[in-house]
Amino acid sequence: MKKILLIVSGGIAAYRSLDLIREIKRRGDDVTCVLTKSATKFVQPLSFASLSQNKVYTDLFDIENESKIGHIKLSRDADLIVLAPATANILAKMVHGVSDSLATSILLANNKPLLIAPSMNVKMWNNPATIKNIKTLKKDGHIFVGPDDGEMACGEVGSGKMSKVEDIYKEISYLINESPLKGKKAFVTSGPTIEPIDPVRFISNRSSGKQGHAIASLLSKLGAETHLITGPVNIPYPDNIKVTEINTADEMLEACLSSLPADISVFAAAVSDWKVTNQSAKKIKKSENKNNDMNIILKQNPDVLKTISETNKNRPELVVGFTLETENLIESAKYKMTKKSCDWMIANNHIQNNKSVFDNDMNEVSFLTSDLQENWGLISKKSVAEKLCNKIINHFNNVT
Ligand code: CTP
Repeated sequence: MKKILLIVSGGIAAYRSLDLIREIKRRGDDVTCVLTKSATKFVQPLSFASLSQNKVYTDLFDIENESKIGHIKLSRDADLIVLAPATANILAKMVHGVSDSLATSILLANNKPLLIAPSMNVKMWNNPATIKNIKTLKKDGHIFVGPDDGEMACGEVGSGKMSKVEDIYKEISYLINESPLKGKKAFVTSGPTIEPIDPVRFISNRSSGKQGHAIASLLSKLGAETHLITGPVNIPYPDNIKVTEINTADEMLEACLSSLPADISVFAAAVSDWKVTNQSAKKIKKSENKNNDMNIILKQNPDVLKTISETNKNRPELVVGFTLETENLIESAKYKMTKKSCDWMIANNHIQNNKSVFDNDMNEVSFLTSDLQENWGLISKKSVAEKLCNKIINHFNNVT
């Protein structure tokens, strides 16, 4: 049984922390709650005491508690501290080392991992001051879950909603349980590659990097030492992992080779199949092409996945490819799995629910090995990452 110290600050989402307590108790762990003064305006401490079946702490100057230096002891007794909901105010106080309440004193004196679930109005979340504070807190090694997008209590719509209880609990479980991939080394390719034509133009594709980033993030949370090798994308990188930014397929291959030896390799990137051999060092001008035509000479790029999969030196134990097709999906995925000598292949349908898979949060995929085909249906890219990581854990535990 693990001990969780739940700090609740004063936001409208405070009532949802009651469900989080239920979930923690249902999983058999112990939870003690600390409420800020504002949190007690939203929900009665008695509700937290009843559900947690533990004393609830609210006051820094509680005589009985402070005679034992309670704000130190509360964090020392816990395996993990969870701050949910975390308001913009308490996050700003953390950045500046303010300790004007029991909650902020615990956070300042804390020596345990801290999981933060922010909750605030979209304008507050997007305010440059909050953005700066979040950056500092992430740099200090604190782990964030959410916030989610959606409609807020104030009626505005955007990012700032506290994450769903199930998502917060998932993060808690990664932090308190044995890391099943501890000791394993992984790398993941993600996003598109871009192949220059001249200094301002390039050939690329519409990959968002969402799937590869979700896989890299989860491998890292599960304990694997993870290296994300990514083309240019517009999404944030997962926290606390090594990232190498590349542009071309040649650079991606070089980064993958430098990541060997590794136990796990996942190739979720949409690599450009071609590069321009007659690349121009200066911007190509229309006026210089007399007959309105322009010739770009293309040469095939190296196949990153196939090169790693067929390397004689330090081939990863698991090589997982992805493939996106517009027709003959399974047949073509099986063919590529053999041709590229990879162990597993995840086959995506290009069009899902009448929408392109690019930039979509959902993915309709099938999981293939040499003797298995599982249809995972239309699920979120995060769920694809979870299912794949479960397969990886089972592989290393010899579970078939
Ligand atoms: N891949 C790679 N290097 C390349 C091309 C593809 O590493 N130059 C990897 C992708 O990351 C993916 C898998 O190979 O994991 C399949 O990619 P896909 O684009 O479906 O296959 P291609 O070999 O490019 O075949 P085609 O585009 O002709 O269908």
